[in-house]
Amino acid sequence: MRCSFQSVARVTLCIPPNLLPKHSWTALMNDLENHFGDDASLDEQTHQTILAFLVKNSAESSTKEASLSFLNSIGNKDIIAMTHTSFWKHAHQEVPTTLFAHEKIKSKANCKACHSDVEKGLIEDDKIKNISDFN
Ligand code: HEC
Repeated sequence: MRCSFQSVARVTLCIPPNLLPKHSWTALMNDLENHFGDDASLDEQTHQTILAFLVKNSAESSTKEASLSFLNSIGNKDIIAMTHTSFWKHAHQEVPTTLFAHEKIKSKANCKACHSDVEKGLIEDDKIKNISDFN
């Protein structure tokens, strides 16, 4: 995996904890054998350390605008991928779908390719790369 920030118990997380609610993190962590097509299983102790970290720093504990937006968009729904939320889809409706396949991006989930501050969970407008840079 190429994503590289928040290192908890020597495991790299791709998504800042404050962009998903507790129940999404719990669901995601309980199904790591099928982690978006990868087997990401961890030993029990590492699993518990990471889950505790994610739950403690989840969207519910954040005052960031993006955290609140994801929280509201997910609600009680069984969503573990931010890209499946109506908020995310709405925020990216102007972004051409073909761009996500660009060699420097590769996936919608590669937030960092376009949001240089995503590891801080901020996603500020002025930190969003100009999508024409990828052409
Ligand atoms: C291909 C580049 C690209 C990728 C990959 C991408 N985004 Fe974005 N995102 C954008 C652009 C461009 C905008 C601004 C769209 C606009 O203003 O019309 C945006 C807007 C947003 C916004 C709204 C910001 C605001 O203040 O309105 C959020 C939140 C966001 N993205 C989160 C994410 C997350 C989380 C991921 C990863 C799961 C992600 N994005 C992946 C390009 C991207």
